[in-house]
Amino acid sequence: MLFKQFFEEKSSTYTYLLACETTKQAVLIDPVACEVEKYLQALKGYTLLYTLDTHVHADHITAANLLREQCGSKSVLNRYSDVECGDILVTDGCVLRIGKFEIKTLYTPGHTNSCTSYLVGNMVFTGDALLIDGCGRTDFQHGSAEMLYDSIHNKLFCLPDETIVYPGHDYNGRTASTILKERTTNSRLGAGRSKADFIELMNNLDLPYPKQIDIALPVNQVCGKQK
Ligand SMILES: [Fe+2]
Repeated sequence: MLFKQFFEEKSSTYTYLLACETTKQAVLIDPVACEVEKYLQALKGYTLLYTLDTHVHADHITAANLLREQCGSKSVLNRYSDVECGDILVTDGCVLRIGKFEIKTLYTPGHTNSCTSYLVGNMVFTGDALLIDGCGRTDFQHGSAEMLYDSIHNKLFCLPDETIVYPGHDYNGRTASTILKERTTNSRLGAGRSKADFIELMNNLDLPYPKQIDIALPVNQVCGKQK
């Protein structure tokens, strides 16, 4: 399998390209609109079947619509995203295929009510649900600390120890982790931290209002279609 991790500096967003070398079918997870040229370069010789958004982002504009227009790819979103622009609306346990590889959806709400993680072999793409030594904030877009705790414990921490965690962001240059590492050392909700402690922590983070939310959210609600 072809695997490539891209980094968009302004929002510290990771985008992932996965492709089957035999069928030349590809997907992009969380592509960012301003980075489309990089993706098109990397996709030369491949057919982009799907763009998979882990959620409706508040910090950058998705490239789903641009890529749909340029490559004919289908935009995949969670059914609870409350947007009408998605070509495929997934729930928990859906399977998409690129060549011989299966992409399984895990419904992992909490950062927002429509977060999806994608499991491909021994790799899990967690968006803003589980980050490296952290997790997404839970104070907007119908977020819920209680829901996030349950999603991470019941859907992610029960994956095999060696599963590689690829997050939606990292602000310290780290590119990947493992389920074992996060379950045992994640300072927000690993190492057996109780749900009550986690909710208390998340409800008192006192984070600033997201800078891009008023720009990014309305555009992402139409899959990144800009007038
Ligand atoms: Fe997010």
